[in-house]
Amino acid sequence: MDMSGKQVHIFDTTLRDGEQVPGCKLNLDQKLRCAKQLEELGVDVLEAGFPESSPGDFKAVEMISKEIRNPIICGLSRAVPKDIETAAAALKFAVRPRIHTGIGTSPIHIKYKFNSTQEKILERAKAAVKHAKSFVEDVEFYAEDAGRTDNEYLAKVIQAVVDEGATVVNIPDTTGYCLPNEYGEKIKFLVDNVRGIENVIISAHCHNDLGLATANSIAGMINGVTQIECTMNGIGERAGNTSLEEVAMVIQQRFKGLYQTNIRSTLLTETSHMISDSMAMLVQANKAIVGENAFAHSSGIHQDGIIKHRDNYEIIDPLDVGLTESKIILTARSGRAAVAFKSKEIGFDLSKDELDIVYLDFIKLADQKKQVSVDDLEALLKRTFSAVA
Ligand code: KIV
Ligand code: ZN
Repeated sequence: MDMSGKQVHIFDTTLRDGEQVPGCKLNLDQKLRCAKQLEELGVDVLEAGFPESSPGDFKAVEMISKEIRNPIICGLSRAVPKDIETAAAALKFAVRPRIHTGIGTSPIHIKYKFNSTQEKILERAKAAVKHAKSFVEDVEFYAEDAGRTDNEYLAKVIQAVVDEGATVVNIPDTTGYCLPNEYGEKIKFLVDNVRGIENVIISAHCHNDLGLATANSIAGMINGVTQIECTMNGIGERAGNTSLEEVAMVIQQRFKGLYQTNIRSTLLTETSHMISDSMAMLVQANKAIVGENAFAHSSGIHQDGIIKHRDNYEIIDPLDVGLTESKIILTARSGRAAVAFKSKEIGFDLSKDELDIVYLDFIKLADQKKQVSVDDLEALLKRTFSAVA
């Protein structure tokens, strides 16, 4: 039986939208090392930068185009001829170059960013795609702030760029405004109302201002998106972008046989650490999939459950994301099961009576400390048993 599902392309923008974050700027060398790691991870498209934005970004896109051969290499541009020409020049050496061009389509962007009209914006969108197509075959169009663009007008713009030859249409929720049902309905509206959309890739690019970026991307996928734009650790403007690791694991855990990606999930932890170190951007401890505590158990009830059977409190096998095991953390909330388990790991197989004695000392120590380390436990066990002996 064929268990393969519909392919969802992972478009990584860690080195473009992610790198825009203050303090996350990478030098050329770091960008190349991160790009190699992302290639290894299995991303399908790598957005390497915004070449017109600075000479450094131009060089980065050019160098990544020369060195990284498997993913499509993408360069960002505004719907401005010079931007598109610079992106094309930076992508000259890429095996599979893609120009990503676009313009704001929401009433707010049209009025306050461009002081323009819907008609003029539509013309600029078409002209940008036409110009980009004169350099490369693969052109992705983004309708910036599509999340706050009314669906009728959005469909008109998307129809125009599809007719102009765009190969990918990106529907960004730039301000992280949409609810999952709204974003899903937006994609469905385009699927139902744009002629020829079945011949292009529909892409989700969601921001996390309301903490809904991953949920919105998945709602998009259920309604017809086949490319998801994301960053490692969810870094990006303001509250960040959709997290690559979350999308990869949602698809792997919850959509088996329906959808699939090319991500090698066992490299997720290593990649997360590398990006976090390179950008000096800490990952919050409770971050899904890659946070320090994502596979750590500290309360007595949970520890007892995990020791009895991992599935009681874990829906992902830590091995699947590149960890060796889950963690049992000893705190004042830990129970006897955890103390017995950790003691056994360091060579003390305690009887019930011994455990009762050790546990009394343990809980006193745990009340004084945030966390009891393995060394603390070992010292405590040795002290207890030398006193008993
Ligand atoms: O959030 C956004 O709309 C973007 C576009 C440039 C794709 O990053
Ligand atoms: Zn963005």
